[in-house]
Amino acid sequence: MKRKGRLFLVLSIIAVLVILFSQCMDASKMKATETSIAGAKTCVQCHKDISNSYLNNAHFAASTPIENNNQINLGTDYVYEYDKNLKVAIEKRDSGTFQVVYFNGHEKLARRFDIAIGSGKNAYTYASWRGNILSQLPLSFFKQINGWANSPGMRTSSPDFGRIIDSRCLECHSSFIESKKESNGSLIVSHEMLKSSLVYGIDCERCHGPAGKHVEFHLKNPDKKDAKFIALYKTLTRKQRVDACGVCHSGNDAELLKSTFSFKPGEDIKEYYAHISSSQESQPDVHGQQNQMLEGSKCFTKSNSLECSTCHSPHDQNKGSLTLYSKKCISCHSTIEHTQKTLESAMVKTNCIDCHMPLKPSKVISFQQAGKSEVSPYMLRSHRIAIY
Ligand code: HEC
Ligand code: HEC
Ligand code: HEC
Ligand code: HEC
Ligand code: HEC
Ligand code: HEC
Ligand code: HEC
Repeated sequence: MKRKGRLFLVLSIIAVLVILFSQCMDASKMKATETSIAGAKTCVQCHKDISNSYLNNAHFAASTPIENNNQINLGTDYVYEYDKNLKVAIEKRDSGTFQVVYFNGHEKLARRFDIAIGSGKNAYTYASWRGNILSQLPLSFFKQINGWANSPGMRTSSPDFGRIIDSRCLECHSSFIESKKESNGSLIVSHEMLKSSLVYGIDCERCHGPAGKHVEFHLKNPDKKDAKFIALYKTLTRKQRVDACGVCHSGNDAELLKSTFSFKPGEDIKEYYAHISSSQESQPDVHGQQNQMLEGSKCFTKSNSLECSTCHSPHDQNKGSLTLYSKKCISCHSTIEHTQKTLESAMVKTNCIDCHMPLKPSKVISFQQAGKSEVSPYMLRSHRIAIY
């Protein structure tokens, strides 16, 4: 009897604790704050069309884990020869796919493909973990040549496995990674990152800001049809709207003041970068500096409405129909004073882009194909809309 009583007491204490504990959990769930992240999986229940369409957008695939070699073109056995003794081969093995160094036919080093960076629209570059350090592999894949070549900027005399990929790379190409970077003034002493914290791809909240409170509110108030607790792009100024893209599209050469993972629409990018040089101060590059290029165009300075989403849909696949893009030009330029010579061009009515936003080689990115003496240019659209 006594024993039963004690058992009952113990069980009741456990029951009370369980209830208390679950209430604490509920309470913490209820207290979503302005900085709570809901996670991309939660958006689909209420924003189904946008979420489905977004699966085809390049941002979604800006970084991906290598799981089934989808992002690796294994069509042909590939060997990149640095010279007749030194080569790197791409080899599929039991534990994954590897870039393997051979010297005089002997294997010297093998590193696994762990992450693909880039959606593959133009290129894939690959990263491999060693403990908590991520480094770039020497060979990348380029759509332009539909083949493998030396990763941009790497030495071409021998394979380079020492190029660290730090959180900066992933601030533009992923949604989050926890950095163990301890910095000592401007000197970075550690590049370690917490592997398990990586959230691949660019998700909804990278562009819309933390949505924890938004989700909590709308789950509790399903009849409320106007958006609460989320930044409203339609109320932002043009400067704020282009800054929300510019946090990743203004290049990588400005000194960073704090991690851009915490950027929210409506903020000024000046709080994140010490100084972003304008198109007058320096020559922006077609790679990664779409903001400065566009801001250097008369279409931008002489209108107050032109911005990135005039031409780009943030959620869809921006498939390159230059005719569709040209319609955006015509929406502002209904009459154009082209000379007779220009008017003779067959594309003058349907393709404004190739003349006024031509493909240009990047000054910072090029790549080296094996056995070629010339480097291959990396071609991108010039966002300085002008007469070329
Ligand atoms: C429980 C339902 C619900 C969930 C979950 C939800 N939303 Fe919403 N959201 C709404 C409603 C309702 C609106 C207002 C109507 C509309 O614009 O669709 C809205 C509007 C928005 C808007 C438009 C704001 C504007 O400019 O008008 C954005 C952006 C947004 N949600 C982002 C998100 C993101 C990101 C997630 C996932 C992290 C998410 N929502 C999850 C219900 C939800
Ligand atoms: C978190 C960083 C980040 C933000 C914010 C961001 N982008 Fe991007 N964007 C990227 C990266 C990285 C790529 C390259 C994706 C790839 O791997 O192909 C890219 C690619 C693109 C492309 C080319 C791919 C395509 O869809 O054709 C367009 C266009 C683009 N971004 C427009 C925008 C616009 C407009 C905004 C603002 C509404 C924006 N981006 C905000 C990082 C970002
Ligand atoms: C690359 C940045 C970017 C990403 C990523 C992004 N959005 Fe948006 N989203 C925008 C911009 C910019 C607008 C405003 C468009 C405009 O006003 O022209 C917008 C508008 C919206 C709107 C309101 C207007 C509409 O079209 O209904 C909703 C809802 C929304 N986004 C939800 C989402 C969800 C859900 C995701 C993830 C699946 C997502 N967004 C991912 C940039 C982004
Ligand atoms: C400041 C933001 C930013 C940083 C940092 C950044 N990128 Fe990018 N990256 C972009 C943008 C924007 C694009 C898309 C278009 C372009 O080339 O301008 C891009 C494109 C790419 C592409 C081609 C994707 C495709 O298929 O079109 C690869 C590969 C890539 N980046 C790899 C890297 C690697 C590796 C790092 C780090 C060493 C890095 N990037 C750092 C913004 C960034
Ligand atoms: C939001 C409206 C708007 C859009 C969209 C737009 N432009 Fe413009 N564009 C302007 C304005 C305003 C000017 C300045 C006209 C002036 O100087 O009187 C301009 C100027 C130009 C010029 C002359 C540039 C120079 O340096 O003299 C060209 C060429 C041009 N636009 C082509 C285009 C093309 C091509 C597109 C599409 C890719 C386009 N524009 C989209 C508003 C726009
Ligand atoms: C007047 C129209 C227009 C505006 C405004 C515009 N873009 Fe583009 N953008 C284009 C066209 C056209 C392409 C090429 C599409 C293609 O080839 O499929 C392009 C391509 C891109 C690409 C892919 C890289 C490349 O060169 O192919 C990125 C990234 C990009 N735009 C980002 C931006 C950002 C960020 C903004 C705002 C600062 C912006 N764009 C504003 C028309 C525009
Ligand atoms: C074959 C190349 C070519 C094509 C295609 C083309 N342009 Fe032009 N555009 C030029 C040249 C060159 C000039 C300078 C005047 C001249 O020589 O005709 C110019 C001048 C302009 C100007 C400045 C003159 C003015 O009227 O203010 C605008 C705006 C313009 N183009 C817009 C467009 C638009 C919009 C399209 C697409 C419907 C387009 N262009 C297609 C080559 C082209």
